[in-house]
Amino acid sequence: MPPTESPGSAGSRAGTVLFLKRWLRRPFAIGSVVPSGRLLGEAIARATLAAIDGHAGTVVELGAGTGPVTRALLAAGIPTNRLAVVEREPELVAFLRRHFVGPRIVEGDAIHLPRLLREEGLSAPAAIVSSLPLLSLPAEVVNGIVHGIFEALPRGAALVQFTYGPNPPVPRALRDRLQLVATPGRRIWRNVPPAVVWTFRRPEGA
Ligand SMILES: C[S@@+](CC[C@H](N)C(=O)[O-])C[C@H]1O[C@@H](n2cnc3c(N)ncnc32)[C@H](O)[C@@H]1O
Repeated sequence: MPPTESPGSAGSRAGTVLFLKRWLRRPFAIGSVVPSGRLLGEAIARATLAAIDGHAGTVVELGAGTGPVTRALLAAGIPTNRLAVVEREPELVAFLRRHFVGPRIVEGDAIHLPRLLREEGLSAPAAIVSSLPLLSLPAEVVNGIVHGIFEALPRGAALVQFTYGPNPPVPRALRDRLQLVATPGRRIWRNVPPAVVWTFRRPEGA
């Protein structure tokens, strides 16, 4: 079933206000003042469709916020029963549950991802899509989250993660340790702020 709100609707405005309120309370954990724009959502969805080609299983979205990426993934044709989202903030989880019927919405911390996925019966996802603000989180938290992501993903399956910065959003040392191959998309200049969607994959033989 499609989401009940579309960009520009009252639900979307309510989402922007709620997002801003959460950012005022926890700026580093939210990471951005405004939700992702439509073009960024579409670029993430395209990268995700390319990443899941040939991979069975669920698409897991981390840090859904008010759901602009969730909406783009559904609009790109990912079936609702193949999408699960993980969000830590209870107020945002309640918003997502009101506005999206179909995808599984899990309240939880991405640092515990392998356990959360086991509890939900969602082991071996087809891809993980993250909007987590990796650049503004402490190094040990990023380390724990990224290790958990690649513990959960089968070999060859991808993490799709956007960033506003000039460098890959997964730090070099972590990429080397996990033997990740990083592939950038084009910078989306019309997003505020401009963003790049990266795909990280641990090759089958690595
Ligand atoms: C930059 S916002 C992105 C929101 C939305 N996906 C978008 O693109 O507009 C980051 C989101 O990640 C959530 N988040 C931050 N740390 C988290 C964690 N450890 N586990 C789960 N969600 C987290 C925040 O609550 C926030 O909703």
